[in-house]
Amino acid sequence: MPDLTRKRKKLLITGASGFLGWNLCRIASKAWRVVGIFFRHPVAIKNVQMIKADLTDFKNFQQLFREIRPNAVIHSAAASQPDYCELHPSESKKINIHSTLYVSDLCAALSIPFLFISSDLVFDGRNPPYSEKSPINPVNLYGEQKVQAEEKILESYPESIVCRLPLMFGYSKGANENFSSGMIRSFQKGSRVQLFTDEFRTPVDAESAAGGVLLSLEKAKGIIHLGGHKRLSRYEMGVMLQELLNVSPSLIEPISQKEMSMKAFRPPDISLDSSKAFSMGYSPLEVEEGIRQMVKTMEIKV
Ligand SMILES: NC(=O)c1ccc[n+]([C@@H]2O[C@H](COP(=O)([O-])OP(=O)(O)OC[C@H]3O[C@@H](n4cnc5c(N)ncnc54)[C@H](OP(=O)(O)O)[C@@H]3O)[C@@H](O)[C@H]2O)c1
Repeated sequence: MPDLTRKRKKLLITGASGFLGWNLCRIASKAWRVVGIFFRHPVAIKNVQMIKADLTDFKNFQQLFREIRPNAVIHSAAASQPDYCELHPSESKKINIHSTLYVSDLCAALSIPFLFISSDLVFDGRNPPYSEKSPINPVNLYGEQKVQAEEKILESYPESIVCRLPLMFGYSKGANENFSSGMIRSFQKGSRVQLFTDEFRTPVDAESAAGGVLLSLEKAKGIIHLGGHKRLSRYEMGVMLQELLNVSPSLIEPISQKEMSMKAFRPPDISLDSSKAFSMGYSPLEVEEGIRQMVKTMEIKV
């Protein structure tokens, strides 16, 4: 039987061991030959060739890039924790700004599509909902680094696509976990979780987000928002999970941002207006459905 996968185009995905990258690799492998880049956390994904590389080692990565010779690139690797960026400004700048520009330059040299994963944290949270045309004004260093990366790549390679993602939730087996699966594990142990009542976003499950990113790679130009349908606080999401898992409401402690000391400031409401993406065909799951799917994937009985 002929190996049809050899005829497929090659997609390079950085951050393949990350929460979003893992979902991107799995979905993309249905239509592309996928090469995933990981750094510290090896992960195996069916039908995906995984390669270890440090994206801040530009010389080595340039050589690797020449050998892979991709037809398109999704750059999802990042220092993705705002508190880490605040504490480690120069390390985070290297991966969040310098590597992004470097990878986009490599794509520009081959005139191949380059898609950068950015964040709703480019906004200050004082005037939601935010469309692609809304003024940016980050309130922490992570947001500032995303803004600088966006501006630099759109200036040097204007054909780049920038997907701004909201808070994501879900489960990626073997890859990095995130706050939502951590919350489920706490509930299972009977441990209490503290959740903000005064930080609003438009959350989306990572699988829907990955679908939106791949759609954007085919159809979008410039900046595009991939938020979910509903504006929610982490507290409201926690209550949805608590009710679904039928655990005691006392396991959730509602708190205000002011009550917790954090290195990075968080904006109050960075809900995204994603109507441009919706009209392009992006159709994320409703949060309730996304949460049900996550619980199912984690094989938790409810
Ligand atoms: N999670 C969210 O809710 C959210 C919301 C909005 C935007 N975003 C953005 O979405 C993207 C993906 O986020 P995520 O949650 O999937 O992040 P994540 O789970 O923290 O994963 C980060 C990825 O970046 C890789 N990486 C970090 N430094 C690297 C380096 N020097 N060289 C090569 N790879 C490196 C990591 O590799 P190793 O783990 O193997 O070292 C990992 O695969 C990021 O750009 C993030 O800023 C995330």
